[in-house]
Amino acid sequence: MSLQSRLRRQLVLASGAAVLAAPINAAQRALTPSQMLGPFYPVTPPLHKDNDLTQVEGRSARAAGQIAELSGRVLDINGRPLAGLRVEIWQCDANGRYRHPRDTGGLDEDPNFQGFGHTVTDAEGRYRFRTIRPVPYPGRTPHIHAAVFQEADRPFVTQIYVAGEPLNARDGLFMRVPEALRPLLLADFVAVDDPVAALAAEFDFVLAPALAGLFEADLEADSA
Ligand SMILES: [Fe+2]
Repeated sequence: MSLQSRLRRQLVLASGAAVLAAPINAAQRALTPSQMLGPFYPVTPPLHKDNDLTQVEGRSARAAGQIAELSGRVLDINGRPLAGLRVEIWQCDANGRYRHPRDTGGLDEDPNFQGFGHTVTDAEGRYRFRTIRPVPYPGRTPHIHAAVFQEADRPFVTQIYVAGEPLNARDGLFMRVPEALRPLLLADFVAVDDPVAALAAEFDFVLAPALAGLFEADLEADSA
């Protein structure tokens, strides 16, 4: 090996070590783990699909179950709010039934539960839903499905679980998440003093940069 190539090799090794030794930026947040979409994403979203899943247009009664506020923020890895993003949630009703033709479990449908809702994050990346505390159904611990549309046709998809729920430990999908990352998918449903909601839970989504945005930045840099 020539002196030059030996020096080059040492430089490469040194820079590699420097990268490995570099402290992880403490301000950065852990990305929210993604989870499968599941079989019950609405085929046809209901006509009435706002951010209050506990009331269906034209019906006076509210959904059965424990009414819960679910709110939080959508952030990037550096904690910056992601504004203007569409957030969707869907879940089964208090009887364990999804509003989906493939849910043939024979459970009675709660006609007062919307089953699906959407909203758009505000300037601070905030979103808010009124729904019910999720309930278990055969084979699954309580969960709320969620999708965040950072890119129009490739949403970030995950499932939100209930902190302290004993069934979590027996749920195949939840237990598939590495143990250290499981808290990132938990929302704590706590009692609140509210005229409508019995519970409230906070859940933040931390998303990786949108690939489309990265490619655009590359193209701009190349053409500069
Ligand atoms: Fe589900």
